[in-house]
Amino acid sequence: EKGGHPHFMFKEILEQPEALHKTISPRIRDGRVVMDDLQLDPDYVKNISRIFIIACGSSYHVGMVAKYTFERLLRRPTEVVLASEFRYSDPLVDETTLAIVISQSGETLDTMAAMREAQRRGAKALAVVNVIGSSIARDADHVIYTWAGPEIAVATTKAYSTQLMLMNLLGLYMGDMLGTIDPQEYTDIVAAVEKIPAQMESCLADKAEIQYYASRYFNHNSIFFIGRNLDYALGMEGSLKLKEISYIHSEAYASGELKHGTISLIEPGTLVVALGTYEPLFDKAMSNMVEVKSRGAEVLALTTELCRDKMEKNADATICIPVTHPVLQPSLGIIPLQLFSYYVALQRGCDIDKPRNLAKSVTVE
Ligand code: F6R
Repeated sequence: EKGGHPHFMFKEILEQPEALHKTISPRIRDGRVVMDDLQLDPDYVKNISRIFIIACGSSYHVGMVAKYTFERLLRRPTEVVLASEFRYSDPLVDETTLAIVISQSGETLDTMAAMREAQRRGAKALAVVNVIGSSIARDADHVIYTWAGPEIAVATTKAYSTQLMLMNLLGLYMGDMLGTIDPQEYTDIVAAVEKIPAQMESCLADKAEIQYYASRYFNHNSIFFIGRNLDYALGMEGSLKLKEISYIHSEAYASGELKHGTISLIEPGTLVVALGTYEPLFDKAMSNMVEVKSRGAEVLALTTELCRDKMEKNADATICIPVTHPVLQPSLGIIPLQLFSYYVALQRGCDIDKPRNLAKSVTVE
């Protein structure tokens, strides 16, 4: 059932281009995003004053990426909140609030409770779910499915990627309804979306290189991920993947925050994964990287073909991914980070598909 692969996680990592294709292809027609499974009244959408994205874990990290994209495409204040915090926060919600709830399993108790709380206060809930007919899917006002197929490994990979893509499509769809997207940008992003599955294949084809880096770094006992904007959101997921399956202590930091405390933890040999895939802020990312390097950090960098030369001059090792539209860059950036976690955990002999203390769906508080 693992299709000849040693772990479900590995199989699911490799399945991502196909899963994305299934999520994308029914929703793009003649260069436009269509959502046949979503009946959103345009008048309702025009009245939305505020969006909450509510989720836990990796689904929350999808929200972290989507916040940037939604605010760019919809020009509506969008807040990402952990479900376990939202439900007890006396949230400022009314009829003009849209609550977007993200959950692979559709059974996460905190996410379910947060959704009910938002609905009780007058919001409509739109759920992005993988498991058909799950509790969250049933109780939401609207549901759109990520067509990732069953995900068995505890650490999510293909569900994360399809959630991310579905949020992009939703942002394009609603932004189009609102007239808040520049038409050229709309066309560019849709064209770029269609290329993602093939570009993802090329990221997966570089797995031997990532395995090599894992063999070089698997013995570190603390790893930092740094980045700005979308790279910060990407780093949060990269860090979670690593800690949950390899048990290595890891933290993700917004690069600009380093000076405010964390940089004191950098000592000779500390591994820093520097994310510099978001081209508009590449130079800023680079200067933070130079700062950690000058304190002795070992830097494994991730960037795109656009900035490769500059990056290679400063990092100890550089992983390069193809270029896409900046808002989609995390969809490619996540691939080497998933592979890195997987290979590091493999080297350390961890129980990859069933990491200690974790459950696939968390149905208790
Ligand atoms: C991490 C992981 C968890 C889940 C979280 C939410 O790899 O799998 O952090 O993302 O428990 O689960 P869902 O999306 O099912 O609500």
